[in-house]
Amino acid sequence: MALSLYLLYFLVLAIVSIIFLNLFKKSNSKLPPGPPKLPIIGNLHQLGELPHQSLWRLSRKYGPVIFMKLGTVPTIVVSTPETARQVLRVFDLNCCSRPSLAGSKKLSYNYRDIAFSPFNDYWKEVRKIGVQELFNIKRVQSMEPIMYEEMSKIIDSFSESASTKTPVNLSEKFLSLTAGVMCKASFGVSFQDTVLNSERFNELIPEALKILGSFSASDFYPYVGWIMDRFTGLHKLRERSARDLDAFCEQMINMHLKKDKEENEDFVDLLLKLEKDQVVLGHEKFTRDNIKAILINILLAGIDTAAITMTWAMTELSRNSRLMKKVQSEIREKFGDKEIISLEETDELEYLNMVVKETWRLHPPSPLLIPREVKTEFEINGYTIPVNTRLQVNAWAIGRDPDAWKDPDVFLPERFVDSDINAKGQYFELLPFGGGRRICPAIYMGTKMVDFGLANLLNRFDWKLPEGMKAEDMKMEEAPGLTINKKHDLLLIPVKL
Ligand code: HEM
Repeated sequence: MALSLYLLYFLVLAIVSIIFLNLFKKSNSKLPPGPPKLPIIGNLHQLGELPHQSLWRLSRKYGPVIFMKLGTVPTIVVSTPETARQVLRVFDLNCCSRPSLAGSKKLSYNYRDIAFSPFNDYWKEVRKIGVQELFNIKRVQSMEPIMYEEMSKIIDSFSESASTKTPVNLSEKFLSLTAGVMCKASFGVSFQDTVLNSERFNELIPEALKILGSFSASDFYPYVGWIMDRFTGLHKLRERSARDLDAFCEQMINMHLKKDKEENEDFVDLLLKLEKDQVVLGHEKFTRDNIKAILINILLAGIDTAAITMTWAMTELSRNSRLMKKVQSEIREKFGDKEIISLEETDELEYLNMVVKETWRLHPPSPLLIPREVKTEFEINGYTIPVNTRLQVNAWAIGRDPDAWKDPDVFLPERFVDSDINAKGQYFELLPFGGGRRICPAIYMGTKMVDFGLANLLNRFDWKLPEGMKAEDMKMEEAPGLTINKKHDLLLIPVKL
């Protein structure tokens, strides 16, 4: 009897202390401010078609760290250079994992890629292979002949349009330039020769990116959302997109298994070698699915981002003839007599480099970077960032922060004269490639593709707006997706020198 009384007493004491401790903990932890929530949907209705813009407006009202509920998922968004520094540098290790999302799961063969893999030993090792073997300077230099070939094709087709004074669709051409380069570098073939005819291939990348960037109910309602995704057709679209990309990778791999060994080594050869050597990454044997996941990653991450940057840069330049003339003079004074400007030579183009940075400030291709997931609680500005929260950095808002940038809405490359700021993740006011452990591993490759494309097209042609169009008529709206392109294609008339 005495024993059970003691037990009861102990139990009550334990329950009271747990309640007390919880109360104490709650009063000590303070979530960031944010807009009021509705039942069930939380703040989803406030996101709109272009979430980075809606979140930027909300940050102006609620501050640089905001808390929202997207469906049932707690989400925190930071929107200034200092709060980005806290996330990407000070507390990077607490939050460098990725959430499990429906779209990324399917397109990454269950997170066997680099971009969507959670933070674990597999990711550390596969990323290391990417950095050392796939995205390094030597590899980019070995891609130069491919870039020359693709650029010559574009110059020829633009010369024809110039002679008939017809506008060319630069948005499309930039995409086929980067797709051509990445496809050849990865698979050793032009995409015209693959199972996917070039039309389907051209559609496939933007479609997959749209799926990744689109509203998927499963991502906001973890247990029941899949029902809604079937209803809206997103599930079917995702399956089709994944099936076509899979077929494409299968064809590429089978072709490589048959080819002679002494031919040029491409990304598939390298990944097949890992499979053959039975390499173990993390605790997992490297198999066909790992190869396909990484290849799809490269296609999705590498093609669109560089093409979008070139499209926005040409858009901004054609709205401002002073800047256009200035950048062309720099290029032509140095390399006017060259058929094609080389990758190395683009290093000498200081003003072009500023134009590209200014383009990334106002139009970062991936404005919210890729969502992170908090694994260990931490604090920013006295606010608690709890475990299992989704975390986004609004690079688009940061590029327009009036405390970081003078006249933030004006496109002015000269702001980088005498400035050390670069886009490599050390300056938190300019984050087109993100930062911290998850920073884009292919900054050099991405930058070189952009510099090379712009330098050559600006060198070889003058660019005119289509008949009857004025600079102020140019449409600047953005199209929704994981990467943010110009909504209306950029049409310009090339003029041969
Ligand atoms: C101008 C071109 C490019 C831009 C602006 C860009 C931008 C980005 C951004 C913003 C991220 C997310 C960073 C974060 O979450 O903090 C990222 C990640 C990534 N990018 Fe790029 N990228 C470009 C080119 C490329 C290219 C050419 C490749 C590959 C060939 C590539 C491969 C990747 C991969 C694999 C990741 C995932 C990294 C990880 O999660 O560990 N990117 N990129």
